[in-house]
Amino acid sequence: MTQNAYQNDRGNKDRTITNPDGIGSAEPVRAATAAATAKPVANGQFLIGDGMTGGYGMGADILHDCTIAVKKGEIAVIVGPNGAGKSTAMRAVFGMLNLRQGAVRLDGQDISGLTPQARVAKGMAFVPQNSNIFASLTVEENLEMGAFLRRDDINRTMEQVYELFPILKDKRRQIAGELSGGQRQQVAVGRALMTEPQVLMLDEPTAGVSPIVMDELFDRIIEVARTGISILMVEQNARQALNIADTGYVLVQGRNRYTDTGQTLLADPEVRKSFLGG
Ligand SMILES: Nc1ncnc2c1ncn2[C@@H]1O[C@H](COP(=O)(O)OP(=O)(O)O)[C@@H](O)[C@H]1O
Ligand SMILES: [Mg+2]
Repeated sequence: MTQNAYQNDRGNKDRTITNPDGIGSAEPVRAATAAATAKPVANGQFLIGDGMTGGYGMGADILHDCTIAVKKGEIAVIVGPNGAGKSTAMRAVFGMLNLRQGAVRLDGQDISGLTPQARVAKGMAFVPQNSNIFASLTVEENLEMGAFLRRDDINRTMEQVYELFPILKDKRRQIAGELSGGQRQQVAVGRALMTEPQVLMLDEPTAGVSPIVMDELFDRIIEVARTGISILMVEQNARQALNIADTGYVLVQGRNRYTDTGQTLLADPEVRKSFLGG
């Protein structure tokens, strides 16, 4: 079995379009460890929510010593049943949840005390599960909104987003709310890329789209990772997402159940039986 998530039949193999060195696969993935006890180490992680415990307001804890992380230019995927705490873990990493225990570190720096907006300024971008576009604005206005923190020229970035998602260039004057589900997700991802992030966090980017559109979106996400941007993604389409994942996390009831390479998780009979439908 390969440890390289890109050495399979997924994704666009034309590396001339992005980084010929293929940052996404430059570093071998951490060796497989005993699944149920697997906990990623902080070493080499670009972004890590480390041992996160916490919940909403005064409510009970949702996350219990939960760790999720992603290395530079890699793709980490979080899967698990409904209500497992996947979205909550993403919010915690982005600073939208008060942690009772644990820390969030970006490039070695403890950012646990920073607001979400301050995290954006540090290079993090988050596309939430719902309400991730301005439906009444045009596609181009959405992209401009994404860049509101920037004071420099955003036109180059906008051209890069249009190269990644050519349909958005064709539809740039259209109202985003009138686009198809897949196109709206492209707007959401494009808007997040307008901040020129180092880490892109995506909560169910393929929700409600057809399998073909899902494949297409995953290909674009692989392209983004190859430019050196780290991807931390929650996905319902667990099989397909683990197939492109350098690292996969299976969360259950706010805890890490399995952590390993995407390919190893896909091959694990226990994971298959319980979380991938056999
Ligand atoms: N805004 C919220 N306020 C209070 N509880 C919430 C909120 N969002 C989610 N929860 C609870 O947190 C738990 C995990 O939910 P969530 O993180 O959305 O799971 P997942 O994304 O894995 O489906 C669930 O029990 C859910 O009811
Ligand atoms: Mg969710």
